[in-house]
Amino acid sequence: MTQLLIRHAQILLPNGQFLLGDVLTQDGKILEVASEIAATDLSNIIDATGLTLLPGVIDPQVHFREPGLEHKEDLFTATCACAKGGVTSFLEMPNTRPLTTTQAALDDKLHRASQKCLVNYGFFIGATPDNLPDLLTANPTCGIKIFMGSAHGALLVSREAELEPIFAKGSRLIAVHAEDQARILQRRQEFSGITNPAIHSQIQDEDAALNATKLALKLSNKYQRRLHILHLSTGVEAEFLRDNKPNWVTAEVTPQHLLLNTEAYDKIGTLAQMNPPLRSPENNTILWQALLDGVIDFIATDHAPHTLEEKAKGYPNSPSGMPGVETSLPLMLTQAKLGRCSVSQVANWMSTAVAKAYKIPNKGLIKPGYDADLVLVDLENYSPVKREDLQTKCGWSPFEGWELTGWPIVTIVGGEVVYEGGKLNTEVRGKPLRFE
Ligand code: DOR
Repeated sequence: MTQLLIRHAQILLPNGQFLLGDVLTQDGKILEVASEIAATDLSNIIDATGLTLLPGVIDPQVHFREPGLEHKEDLFTATCACAKGGVTSFLEMPNTRPLTTTQAALDDKLHRASQKCLVNYGFFIGATPDNLPDLLTANPTCGIKIFMGSAHGALLVSREAELEPIFAKGSRLIAVHAEDQARILQRRQEFSGITNPAIHSQIQDEDAALNATKLALKLSNKYQRRLHILHLSTGVEAEFLRDNKPNWVTAEVTPQHLLLNTEAYDKIGTLAQMNPPLRSPENNTILWQALLDGVIDFIATDHAPHTLEEKAKGYPNSPSGMPGVETSLPLMLTQAKLGRCSVSQVANWMSTAVAKAYKIPNKGLIKPGYDADLVLVDLENYSPVKREDLQTKCGWSPFEGWELTGWPIVTIVGGEVVYEGGKLNTEVRGKPLRFE
């Protein structure tokens, strides 16, 4: 029997209120939450005076690059970054090499994860125009990922005639990267020769995003199919969803699309390049409002590391994507401290609502019987994002220099301390997530 007692924390309760008290975990589960729990002969006690205890972050969209692209990141380095960022579970995307489009590739990832991941893991199965049988039977998976645009090799299903059978057959969640590939290709030609990375936001423009979101929603409505719209980037999509989102559809937004915009190209060049691209500042405001109003359900980082050498190739040869797992929680908690939202809303968007949407049992709340995946954060002190502190193999962040609060002090996975006071416990291993 392994126990851990966290004492004197500001504990976020399931009703959104805070309790100054203690949490006892046993064998990976939360056993008790109370204003005072008597310490018996426990050796594992964490004094959390002055700290806030939140459910561990569940990041529902990451690209961890293993297998095949380990020069950018691997499951070990990525989950060291997770532990440091308070991310205790993740859902990973299929654009690795080989692509995760078969049961064999999924099994290989699950095996690698069991050996290397410091936090809990789940994987998407990727759709191609011709792997419907795999999509129907793959197990365990959090869902089907469709790249409607911004292709990765065979991971492109863009035409309605190819998309329709995937929506028509089966019932598992479909998550879409909604960008209109035909429009992107046409605009790439129109703007060819331009090397200022800011052109990226015009090539893969708002209409490209809106067209694809509308098409995905049309097919979801036709078959009443569970749909999740990944990394919503535009105000027009958010407003469209406000009027047209059925209750079986969810949407997410990234901290990048909430907090960065096209002005970032002047400051950080191709490091600001991602898909779907950053938008104008007005979009930040509309996305925030949609999140506050519940039109957008939760937050994902789209952690997509590329090396600085790759980013230095210059547009359009520079790859799209930014790392995010070790800054997302402090970024959002800093926004809460600024009064833009509450701490309990942040925990809902980054944990509770994700567990609910993906039907991950016993996660996302601090409640007896739930898994002891927890993060203690410091909401009093501020410190900057520094390149030298980062665990991600790519070694950079678009938020370098940002003064943030809410940095994780202790991260706990399955009742085990995986990160404490700046140190990782690399012996800890996460578990495969279940999806009901
Ligand atoms: O910017 C992005 N990069 N967006 C994606 O959806 C994929 C990702 C990557 O894997 O690099």
